[in-house]
Amino acid sequence: MKTLIINIKELVQVEENPRLKVCGKDMTEISTIKNAYLLIEDDKILDFGEMENIKETQADNIVDATNRLVFPSFCDSHTHLVYSGSREIEYIDKIRGLSYEEIAQRGGGILNSAKRLQETSEDDLFEDAMKRLDEIIRMGTGAVEIKSGYGLNTESELKMLRVIKRLKESSPLKIKSNFLGAHGVPLEYRNRQGEFVDLVINEMIPLVAKDNLADFIDVFCDKGFFTVEETDRILTQGVKYGMRPKIHANELDYSGGIQIAVKHNALSCDHLEFVGDEEIECLLGSETMPTVLPGAAFFLNMRLSPVRKMMDAGLPVAMASDFNPGSSPSGNMQTIVSFACVNYRMTPQEAFNATTINSAYAMGISKTHGSIARGKIANFYITKEIPNLEYMPYYYGTNKVDRVFLNGIEY
Ligand code: NIG
Ligand code: FE
Repeated sequence: MKTLIINIKELVQVEENPRLKVCGKDMTEISTIKNAYLLIEDDKILDFGEMENIKETQADNIVDATNRLVFPSFCDSHTHLVYSGSREIEYIDKIRGLSYEEIAQRGGGILNSAKRLQETSEDDLFEDAMKRLDEIIRMGTGAVEIKSGYGLNTESELKMLRVIKRLKESSPLKIKSNFLGAHGVPLEYRNRQGEFVDLVINEMIPLVAKDNLADFIDVFCDKGFFTVEETDRILTQGVKYGMRPKIHANELDYSGGIQIAVKHNALSCDHLEFVGDEEIECLLGSETMPTVLPGAAFFLNMRLSPVRKMMDAGLPVAMASDFNPGSSPSGNMQTIVSFACVNYRMTPQEAFNATTINSAYAMGISKTHGSIARGKIANFYITKEIPNLEYMPYYYGTNKVDRVFLNGIEY
């Protein structure tokens, strides 16, 4: 089955020689072809080029993209989109001045979501998450990583991961699963945090691995949550059971999380509001993708990660939505690109590199996703009629995505 998209005003993020990630100054550039075609065979990209050089004009399905741009789908490398209920009351508490940590101390925050998730059936969690997946598909996302971490006991963590497994089987999105058993300390383990860490290590990780439920292992390594030593122990066990680390770090303080992530060859290290010279030095030369979550920083009104400083030092930067009910109740990657431009002073080109190829790297799929390259999976979207690439972040707040193709099929 062949699909041919013709008369594309601008085909964005094309790669003749695909890269696994884009670093430092290279992030300022994004290759595009004006007046282009894109040819798909089954689920893969077969060819692309300028309309005047088109070789094949026959296909089973021909789509005219006059006045429209085509982009590779967003890769959202950090979400918690399997959850139960919502937390708008805490949102009001935050507006009134309570901090994220104060809300957590009161049994709100992650513990609040955990209590509700424990009471929700697997089927209901699945149905709710499928709706969220449909929502992000319509907004241009083609691949997503989903974390556990609202279970906080063995049974509920496994339940969450089974839901993610079902989502993998049922959704056209490319999905990666991440076991985040150490997301918060349950109330019954207060003052016995070490025992909870032992439970994650000795009981949860082996069971998760036994049913092959997680691609990655995560820890919330930050002030008031899990220490560097605890993170070290958990990641050591996760790696032993075949899960690559991807952790939350340096959101609330210089937690030492970046150093421990790099020590364990983490695929990514996420949040990164607190990054100094030492952290940048540590990330340079590592395989760990610094990943920033502009939606959480916006929603919690936090200090911003020094993204420009990291890029100037030669580091790559990825960006993801952090879609979750507490700190970022949105999976809209188009607004993430707008936040990247306005709050972090990134150019639209840098922001698209951060949310496609680099975020694909951060979920271990940049060989097959994150750009328009021959042989890659045909995950892309056609925009509404818009003037250019820059218009995407500029005209923020509405959906500029018109038609979505995943695995070569229109949704
Ligand atoms: O990535 N930082 C830790 N975890 C989530 C927040 C989860 C929540 O508040 O429910 C995050 O922002
Ligand atoms: Fe998160």
